[in-house]
Amino acid sequence: MSKTRQKIIIDTDCGSDDAMAIAMALNDEDHEILMISTVTGNVRLHQATLNALTTLKVTDSYYPNVYEGAEEMLVRDWIGAQDVHGNDGLGDLDLVDCSLKPNEGNAIENMLEALKDNEEGTVDIITLGPLTNIALAIRLDPDAMNRARRIVMMGSAGLGKGNVTPVAEFNIWQDPESCKIVLESGIREKVFVGWDACLDEAMLNSEEIDEIRNSSELGRFCIDSNMILIRMNEDRFGEQCLDMADPAAMAAALCPECIEECDEYYCEVDISKGPSYGALLVDSYRFSGKKPNAYIVSKLKPDIFKQYVFKTLKVR
Ligand code: RIB
Ligand code: CA
Repeated sequence: MSKTRQKIIIDTDCGSDDAMAIAMALNDEDHEILMISTVTGNVRLHQATLNALTTLKVTDSYYPNVYEGAEEMLVRDWIGAQDVHGNDGLGDLDLVDCSLKPNEGNAIENMLEALKDNEEGTVDIITLGPLTNIALAIRLDPDAMNRARRIVMMGSAGLGKGNVTPVAEFNIWQDPESCKIVLESGIREKVFVGWDACLDEAMLNSEEIDEIRNSSELGRFCIDSNMILIRMNEDRFGEQCLDMADPAAMAAALCPECIEECDEYYCEVDISKGPSYGALLVDSYRFSGKKPNAYIVSKLKPDIFKQYVFKTLKVR
């Protein structure tokens, strides 16, 4: 009897690293994507939607429904990450297929329906962008959201440094108020995959970048759409390398053997308007004495992670 595939929902602000992560999930035979929801983040909502649809087309595996969610953040104005992903989110290389259309219907309502239509505790929610859609769904029907087995979020600086301020990571910083709603919700297991998990040895080196790019149309798409980031890194580090934040979160969610360091901590998100606004404050020394409320994945096993990336991008 064939093994039951783990059901997942992917929420994305589809920039170039989201695209890589979505392609990996589509090619992971042990998981089934029930739906994809899009949210403003790296780029505006409609562009994120086009990018997600383009990724489905380039991957050409199967085609989960794609529903549009929140156009605006809960409180703060949109800021975006075009400097990292390009104005179109996929490297500004005309890779986006603008003929594609999302499914009719609202992402939040369809996410709640998907959770109610499936047995409680059997669906994982994997988020790759700001948590706006998740927070709105929790506000609309918390009982339905609590049916999720867990939520795995690319978000926070983990146990390390931020990437948009010294202490904040982009997804949480773009909508901290939504993260607070998620943290205070009754979702049974909350996992943050920190920015630190995708750095150092977890980064692709120049040879690995070339191997992926030369492997297939999908490989070329995954690398070319990330060329702005690769060039930024070349200027910064003096050689081609690629930090894969969303692929790291996807790997942690779909292939737990990739995880090197994960522990449970008491966490709070800073929604004050000071210098640490948008930081997920992790009580790593357990000073607060408060009950841990989230898991932090702060490090992956580089070899196993990369093997998983290469396998699910069909490189080798
Ligand atoms: O900080 C990295 C995260 O912010 C990634 O998900 C990237 O796609 C952006 O959304
Ligand atoms: Ca993202």
